[in-house]
Amino acid sequence: MKRAEFETWTRDQLDAVESALDAWVPADAPAGLGLAMRYGVLDGGKRLRPLLVLAAAQTLNGSHEAALRAACAVELIHAYSLVHDDMPCMDNDVLRRGKPTVHVQFGEAQAMLAGDAMQALAFEMLTPDDGIAPALQARLCSLLARAAGHAGMAGGQAIDLASIGVPLNEHALRDMHHRKTGALLQASVLMGAACGSPTPLAWDALAAYGDALGLAFQVVDDILDVTQASETLGKTAGKDQHHNKPTYVTVLGLDAARRHAAELRDKAQAALARSGLTDAAWLSLLADKVVERDN
Ligand code: IPE
Ligand code: IPE
Ligand code: MG
Ligand code: MG
Ligand code: MG
Repeated sequence: MKRAEFETWTRDQLDAVESALDAWVPADAPAGLGLAMRYGVLDGGKRLRPLLVLAAAQTLNGSHEAALRAACAVELIHAYSLVHDDMPCMDNDVLRRGKPTVHVQFGEAQAMLAGDAMQALAFEMLTPDDGIAPALQARLCSLLARAAGHAGMAGGQAIDLASIGVPLNEHALRDMHHRKTGALLQASVLMGAACGSPTPLAWDALAAYGDALGLAFQVVDDILDVTQASETLGKTAGKDQHHNKPTYVTVLGLDAARRHAAELRDKAQAALARSGLTDAAWLSLLADKVVERDN
């Protein structure tokens, strides 16, 4: 019953996010830039980060308008990170979300600029002239900037590229994954929470939930890279090994990586259980989904 309700809720949120992105990502940005931006962010992806924002906000009875903007902002940052991640100077990938990558379709310079413009648009989304209190705008911008920047995603991506062919130990691998992927997922949860009025207990518990779920997400991404086909993933399978990247699979082995993902899911669930939040069912089901997914 709860699962069926969750599927309906998920579909509704995905529709709302798609319509909002469709309305806000401009088709008429100069010289084809808008087309590249829209290609990179519309009509694809699991939209896990927006779902986390919206679930956390709903759990706390937060402002829906603020949460929808935050959901789109975090997806724009994520989509920009994918556009750049796929470029020849990074992972050199030709397939993303079941389509040719942005640089394949529009050229490298346009892909770089589309990523740049998507990042800026994310912060524009969080700072409307009205509808979100200025203090909340500042809070959301701060959470997102910290997760996207040098200490978070961009920093983690720098470590990733510096680690090619380097046998990282588990501690170093965890640090890289926390930054490159975990930070933005945790920020999604906290941005949603910030749209409501969480107690300090709930805030800390959601931070711990987001931390565990964020790491679990990249552990599973590493696993799927070796266990799934490109058609299922919508992106090229086997790329990590091809590029000689240290991953949870190379460091722990496949079975231990799977066990670790399950442990992290349990850790996320335990954090929710001590949050004092009475209706965190969607967050709980999202944590299961992160670990059980096949793409
Ligand atoms: C892929 O993220 C890149 C990582 C951070 C591991 P997702 O698996 O969330 O990609 P989409 O958004 O569904 O395409
Ligand atoms: C990407 O990690 C993390 C980002 C910040 C985009 P990966 O390089 O493993 O992501 P995929 O496998 O290409 O989606
Ligand atoms: Mg990469
Ligand atoms: Mg990649
Ligand atoms: Mg990967």
